[in-house]
Amino acid sequence: MASLLDNIVRPSAVVLQLSVVLGIIFVLLKVVQFYQERKKLIKALEAFPGPPKHWLYGHNHLVRRELSSIRIVSWGEEYPYAFPRWFGPVLPSLIIHHPEYAKSILGRTGKSLHLLVTPLLFVSPGQGLLILNGTKWFQHRKLLTPAFHYDVLKSYVDLMSDSVKVMLDKWEKKNTEKSVELFQDVSLMTLDSIMKCAFSYNTNCQTQRSALELSNSGKAKGTWQDTEEETPGFSGHSSFGSATQSPLLPLKHSLTPQFAFREDLGKMTYTTMCIKESLRLFPPVPAVSRCLSKSVTFSDGRSLPAGLLSLPLLLPQVYDPLRFSPENSAQRHSHAFLPFSAGSRNCIGQQFAMNEMKVALALTLLRFKLCPDPSKPPRLLPQLILRSSNGIHLHLRKIH
Ligand code: HEM
Repeated sequence: MASLLDNIVRPSAVVLQLSVVLGIIFVLLKVVQFYQERKKLIKALEAFPGPPKHWLYGHNHLVRRELSSIRIVSWGEEYPYAFPRWFGPVLPSLIIHHPEYAKSILGRTGKSLHLLVTPLLFVSPGQGLLILNGTKWFQHRKLLTPAFHYDVLKSYVDLMSDSVKVMLDKWEKKNTEKSVELFQDVSLMTLDSIMKCAFSYNTNCQTQRSALELSNSGKAKGTWQDTEEETPGFSGHSSFGSATQSPLLPLKHSLTPQFAFREDLGKMTYTTMCIKESLRLFPPVPAVSRCLSKSVTFSDGRSLPAGLLSLPLLLPQVYDPLRFSPENSAQRHSHAFLPFSAGSRNCIGQQFAMNEMKVALALTLLRFKLCPDPSKPPRLLPQLILRSSNGIHLHLRKIH
């Protein structure tokens, strides 16, 4: 009996030992591979001088959340073109802040370019265009592109203005003696309008809380949803909500010439310039990241093997919409202003967003004069999207 048991147990013990040994070899090989890749990357990064790093924290301890954009921009001034940014002891990235460099990365197509997305995004249900890669991304992008055609978007203007009017009606009823926090309302307005345009569905989310919950449950059906499980609307919604506040943010400088918005709705040249300048100063998507699966050589001859790359879009300077006048824009590098990114993976919703920002601004400024509240300046928090951690507080003065 004992020898029978021995015969059964022995082979399985051998298999177990073998699997453990194979497992250890596999892990060791992976560690060696990781170490060699890191070594190659570190060697390549030596060509890019950057701020001194801590052996354990990298640059994390130097980049506090609310000040990170300021810190990154000041490093950008010190280290031209690109500089390394370490997230801890083993995870490097290269921060790029030169248009030619950005072009070298964003101009690439095909498999060499992988979108880097934070694990957080994978928690969202479905697979939106934003997080797809390869053939599946290409197919979905091709299917969705006609939905953003100029003529289709034109038909949304009335729906957008309906949503804006609901928001403005709410503001009419507010006590305007004190400053008002506007970010929540603007966010709800963008959600409301995207639900109407993309799903032909009226959520009433601006006026009813329960309607907002229904819209979050994804029960609505409509045009864009027919093309994709998760619509681009939701990938766009958060950046969009944050974007629609962007033209309001420069008000803290008290420099936005408000009368200028009340111009010919068809052209809106000056309004467009103000919106672009706001997107430059307060980019709703402050950085896009790419993970290269093939090496790249930049215009100055420096190169980088496959690895992590990051492209910050944040370049705060003086508020001056005139830098977007046709004459000034003509002289600018095509990749110097990238609020919607560029290349094949640029923002599919950019025209939609621009239209809505124009409609929202024009209608708002017809009814209100907006003034900053110096006691509650926005505290910028660059995360996946840029937002103000304390909201946007403005004084609303009704125009009679
Ligand atoms: C002002 C508002 C907006 C800004 C600043 C913005 C910005 C961006 C940026 C920078 C990217 C590239 C992200 C990356 O490469 O990592 C992007 C991608 C994307 N955006 Fe927007 N976005 C806005 C509004 C919208 C809206 C309203 C929609 C939908 C209606 C939308 C849908 C998308 C989609 C689907 C992608 C992924 C495209 C792809 O990978 O092929 N965005 N957006």
